[in-house]
Amino acid sequence: MTEDTLKKEIIRLKKEKNAVILGHYYQRHEIQEISDYIGDSLALAQQAQEATADIIVFCGVHFMAETAKILNPSRKVLLPDMEASCSLAESCKAEDFAPFKAAHPDHIVISYVNCSAEIKALSDLICTSGNAEKLVRSLPEDQKIIFAPDKNLGGYINRVTGRNMLLWNGVCTVHDAMQAEAILNLKVSHPDAKVIAHPECNAALLEVADFVGSTKAMLNYIKASPSQKFIVATETGILYEMQRENPDKEFITLRDNKSCACDDCAYMKLNTLDKLYNCLKTEQPEILMSPEIIEAAKRPIVRMLEMSKQLGILK
Ligand code: 13P
Ligand code: SF4
Repeated sequence: MTEDTLKKEIIRLKKEKNAVILGHYYQRHEIQEISDYIGDSLALAQQAQEATADIIVFCGVHFMAETAKILNPSRKVLLPDMEASCSLAESCKAEDFAPFKAAHPDHIVISYVNCSAEIKALSDLICTSGNAEKLVRSLPEDQKIIFAPDKNLGGYINRVTGRNMLLWNGVCTVHDAMQAEAILNLKVSHPDAKVIAHPECNAALLEVADFVGSTKAMLNYIKASPSQKFIVATETGILYEMQRENPDKEFITLRDNKSCACDDCAYMKLNTLDKLYNCLKTEQPEILMSPEIIEAAKRPIVRMLEMSKQLGILK
């Protein structure tokens, strides 16, 4: 099938089956084009919670689809490619994390949403890159905290809030591989560009950024900024929405100085139009979880959504 026919078929099947397609900003452009909602992980979790469609097709990675199922378990949740994992989720296994938590009984656990349902079930509060700083600031200053699994995001929150959270040693292999030196080289050719970076990047890179924020926060920053040029240190899928919202602005990525072709998340890119079509047609692969794990993982996610509303981050 041609791309156009595939898209038409996906839209037809979506109506026929009363399905909704949620797409993350890092998905392939053609998937974002036909998604009903595109967003960052926080906005998509809220969309999933409120979805009334019979089927939620989650075009993102496994932990995101799992979060959708946890928040709306009576819906059928499909993920076009079950192999679409995340290096952060892979870095933190429940069998390793449980004893680490047990060794620090006076700490609460805040986990970045990029983790498995089993890790969520071991957590007191979930956060995303869009709300982590505000959630941490809202807790008493003397509260002892374990932050898992992203040591880069956790380290960034420690630096901006002055906290001393105990960090799990995980990274996003995509963002962690981006180098400050490559950004500085781009700055030489584009001295008028603002550097914007996702907090999953390493500390040296964040040090040279003009703005650090989640995918949605970066989009807001670009829209409000008088600058015309931006050096973007995050996954390249986001360029679709950046360019769509700001057709007159220029975006430069790390691959533009040929120093790195590492800014594509191989997991995110596993979902294709073909797989999306097949998954709507066959209603497979489906996210299936035990009621016990759903119940245990739901508590800290719902707490995050409620606190985000109280703090004015979500409506
Ligand atoms: P956001 O929380 O900004 O959507 O990021 C998710 C993610 O996987 C970043 O690598
Ligand atoms: Fe996970 Fe990194 Fe891919 Fe995001 S970009 S899904 S954190 S591996």
